[in-house]
Amino acid sequence: MSAAEVLLERIRRDGSINGQIVKVDQFLNHMVDPVLIHLLGDDIAASFANHSVTKILTAETSGIMLAQAVALKLQVPFVYAKKKRPITMPEYFAAASYSFTKQESTTLYVSKEVLHRDDKVLFVDDFFAKGSTLKAIEEILAQAGATLVGAAVIINKSDRRDVESILTLDDLQ
Ligand code: G4P
Repeated sequence: MSAAEVLLERIRRDGSINGQIVKVDQFLNHMVDPVLIHLLGDDIAASFANHSVTKILTAETSGIMLAQAVALKLQVPFVYAKKKRPITMPEYFAAASYSFTKQESTTLYVSKEVLHRDDKVLFVDDFFAKGSTLKAIEEILAQAGATLVGAAVIINKSDRRDVESILTLDDLQ
């Protein structure tokens, strides 16, 4: 079975779809199935194996497990943008992101120590909805002078086809 087929079966068994909201908190973003995450991560990594990716970038919190799985497969580090800036991060890139799903605004912070001009970055996340997280990440990459080589998520709820995904909302109908 493909990664998409396994995920679809899991959503049908342990999740639900309510309009635009997909409930996955029994296996993806609250309780987490590590075997499933690694299957999905391997699938995304395979699509970017020849893109000379130097770093995976995601945002706290739910993107972190996928980022680790993709990074392990591609053998590169992963960075997660933080939503609170710790005092140990004096120099940073930052951009604001408004979540339509959660109806709140957050600022994402990445230390200047972990992102550099020569980095070729793959953005990964659990969901792509309105693209506000990716937009903030693009602003951070522009501040760093780094290059975005691609964006990949588990479930793409938008019409943007330049964002790779395992499943789209159409697959879930
Ligand atoms: P966008 O970045 O693409 O604009 O998306 P939006 O802000 O609307 O939503 C992103 C946040 O909402 C993410 O969490 C994501 O995990 C969550 N989300 C979006 N759609 C769904 C959905 O259908 N089901 C579930 N379960 N979650 C969804 P976040 O704000 O980044 O925070 P965190 O939960 O990762 O900490």
